[in-house]
Amino acid sequence: MILIVDFGSQTCHLIGRRIRECGVAVTIVPPEDAFKQINKIQPDGIIFSGGPAFVHDNNSPTVNPKIFSLGIPILAICYGHQLTAHLLGGKVKPGKTKEYGPAVIEINGASKLFAHIIDNHFTVWMSHGDTVTVPPPGFTSPAQTKTAPVALMQNEAKKIYSIQFHPEVKHTKYGALILRNFLKEICHLPIKRTILNPRTFIQSAKDVIGNRDEAIIAVSGGVDSTVAAAILSRAIGNRLIPIYIDNGLMRYGNTETITQLFHTLLRIPLKIIDAKKMFLDALRGVTDPEMKRKIIGRLYIECFEKEAKRHTKAKFLIQGTIYSDVIESKGTKHADKIKSHHNVGGLPDSMNLTLYEPLRSLYKDEVRQLGIKLHLPKHVVMQQPFPGPGQAIRIIGEVTQERLMRQHHADRIVMEEMHRSGWYHKVFQSFPVLTDTKSTAVKGDGRFYGEVVALRVYGSIDIMTASWSRLPYTLLQTISSRIVNEVPGISRVVYDITTKPPATMEWE
Ligand code: XMP
Repeated sequence: MILIVDFGSQTCHLIGRRIRECGVAVTIVPPEDAFKQINKIQPDGIIFSGGPAFVHDNNSPTVNPKIFSLGIPILAICYGHQLTAHLLGGKVKPGKTKEYGPAVIEINGASKLFAHIIDNHFTVWMSHGDTVTVPPPGFTSPAQTKTAPVALMQNEAKKIYSIQFHPEVKHTKYGALILRNFLKEICHLPIKRTILNPRTFIQSAKDVIGNRDEAIIAVSGGVDSTVAAAILSRAIGNRLIPIYIDNGLMRYGNTETITQLFHTLLRIPLKIIDAKKMFLDALRGVTDPEMKRKIIGRLYIECFEKEAKRHTKAKFLIQGTIYSDVIESKGTKHADKIKSHHNVGGLPDSMNLTLYEPLRSLYKDEVRQLGIKLHLPKHVVMQQPFPGPGQAIRIIGEVTQERLMRQHHADRIVMEEMHRSGWYHKVFQSFPVLTDTKSTAVKGDGRFYGEVVALRVYGSIDIMTASWSRLPYTLLQTISSRIVNEVPGISRVVYDITTKPPATMEWE
């Protein structure tokens, strides 16, 4: 077992993932608890993560320095590296601006951390403000970059290894090997290839819920809630109560797909709450995007709470929260807040249910792998993500019944053509937007003044950045012709060629 001390790094969890990929268990703890937890768990190795703080600042996170004398191998990364130098008597030069990006590391001495690497220089990924300039007494420094004179420092006798760069990110050339070396050559742990085992998840769910209680889950038809429901249905069968609020704003046909899935595959009855009219009424006259989000979020909770109250035997609330939701919405204790439109742990405390989030530590691709192992259909597991407020934030201006029908119709055409051409799985998201702008067309022999649709199709790996997809002209032509000819009220289709940043993925 490896214990990771989380100093608030955006990539702390990625370190955990890389370790788990080697078949080694991981526990992540905040620095305040580190010493106590280490004594309790007796891990085979300790990793200090990076973090946004500066070691010379008041209140910057730290650890009990006795950790360095326990004889347990330590790998310190970035902020962890600077803290190690600071606590053990090295010199750390303060720098308030972050140096971010690739650097070339030069190796001029031996290190177990670099075992099996034959290059004596390679690319690593840096993200730091402070720089270690002098290692602590007893440490050697066999690697440097142009800006980091102590890119690696080590005290082999004490099994302490400390690096300025991030081995957990793909941009560091031998990053995965460096982490494996720490596990194998320094902590002497056996390395296995891990498989995300559904049985482990099912057993954990059984342990948490027990033999009697019922659990409620809000499902949307999306990947995360479906995988969570599949795990729970295998763990507690009919004691799982899936509730689907049909707000009319999800993708066309979603209600039929999800009904079919629960009845035939998971074999548990799905409670469908038809709230289409209620949502449309509440959105009447509303044009502000944030107002739309708030109204939809509030109504959703109201509907869900009302239904949940009927199930008096339910003691647990299951949510398909995944790790990117956690990090994007509130992060860990020492991480900077990035954005807040995801509803992590979002249902109100007044419901008096214990929250259980079985997928909370997984990345999206891991959730998908788990879904495939649970034999969920590919069209569910590999579907594109869809935002909670649904079509409402793809209809600029007021959401009326007529415009919602147009949006559904145009969206269906985009989906059909993306699938037919084989492009659906090559992009991150693809959808039309009703722009609330009018333009002139000639339909038949007459002038027609109708609404402009924008087509937004883009690729993304990390959600924080995206670039518009270079779809073949023939495909763009087909989508454009079909939308203008088949969807009433549409006069023109334009293609959105804006990257993120600056533009967000959704228009609203
Ligand atoms: P943006 O527009 O912020 O989108 O670049 C990034 C990703 O988040 C989705 N998105 C949302 N998801 N509630 C959600 O559950 C929201 O309010 C929301 N807004 C955007 C968007 O579809 C994209 O995948």
